[in-house]
Amino acid sequence: MNALLLFADGKAQDLSIFSPASPPAESIRDLSILIFVITGLIFLIVEGVLVYCLVRFRQGAKSPTEPAQVYGSRPIEIAWTAAPLLIVTIVALVSARTLWDVTADPPKPQGGDRTLFVTVIGRQWWWEYHYDSYDGRPLGFVTANELHIPASEDGKPRPVFLMLKSADVYHSFWVPRLAGKTALIPGRTNSMWLQTSEPGIFLGQCAEYCGTQHANMLIRVNVDSPLEFERWLVEQAKPAAEQPAVNKDRDVFLAQSCVNCHRVRGTAAAGSYAPDLTHLMSRQTLGSGMIPNDPDGKNLRAWIADPQTVKPGCLMPAFGLSNEQLSSIVRYLRTLH
Ligand code: CUA
Repeated sequence: MNALLLFADGKAQDLSIFSPASPPAESIRDLSILIFVITGLIFLIVEGVLVYCLVRFRQGAKSPTEPAQVYGSRPIEIAWTAAPLLIVTIVALVSARTLWDVTADPPKPQGGDRTLFVTVIGRQWWWEYHYDSYDGRPLGFVTANELHIPASEDGKPRPVFLMLKSADVYHSFWVPRLAGKTALIPGRTNSMWLQTSEPGIFLGQCAEYCGTQHANMLIRVNVDSPLEFERWLVEQAKPAAEQPAVNKDRDVFLAQSCVNCHRVRGTAAAGSYAPDLTHLMSRQTLGSGMIPNDPDGKNLRAWIADPQTVKPGCLMPAFGLSNEQLSSIVRYLRTLH
């Protein structure tokens, strides 16, 4: 079973583009159905004529000579040039309109701007989210892999506008029930938007081959009620939980090379190359959606002990830590709620 589906149940397991929960996903579903209908009709007509001819004009062994041959027909030539041209034009126009719908700015809600702006950075093989602003207020914190967004409630739309960038290679952000795939290309900024009134978890994944662990570059979107989302924003904006001045576990963590890549806001760990760990324990999974971030810390320990056994090829090496160091680091990280 796909790791993507392991830690989800019910509706979250639904990855079908035919059950959209967001206007861009609806546009894409509608376009898909239209294309299926058009191509289905063409298939039926072509195969129908073929089968009809096979049956109707079959001579069998009765006639040893060839039937009369027909060379050229202007009306037929015109018909089979004009008809495909017309169909292709219609398909191109409808596709262009859908493309416009899914990439344009989110619709401005009436009476206030409840838009959430997030910059998504694709990295081998995880996602970095910069929360830029919400409802006109600047935010400015960074988190990883699990995107939280507010649900539209009481007829008040809460659109989410994503700016997509890449730190290394070509990736593609895809949560099928919320929006179509959008590429993250080095040196370029793409944009997409989504909006849903359905709270819960929506799963997705990187949809462009980007190296060894492309298949485990998973996305979790948590759609929170507006109230829950506000609470989450307040928690995430805080620096790491206060620690006593003397804290052996924290000091063990800060003494290791973890701090060169990871950031824990409010401490000396200020790396920006790997996921921000300031609120690590508020996430449900580790390794970009691969394994549950279990409350007793077993998976966290296994991950730090040797990331390469969990996610072979990932950019975090094993540091050959002693059991004691490992326990200290896990204990410290588990305080990061
Ligand atoms: Cu990132 Cu595939």
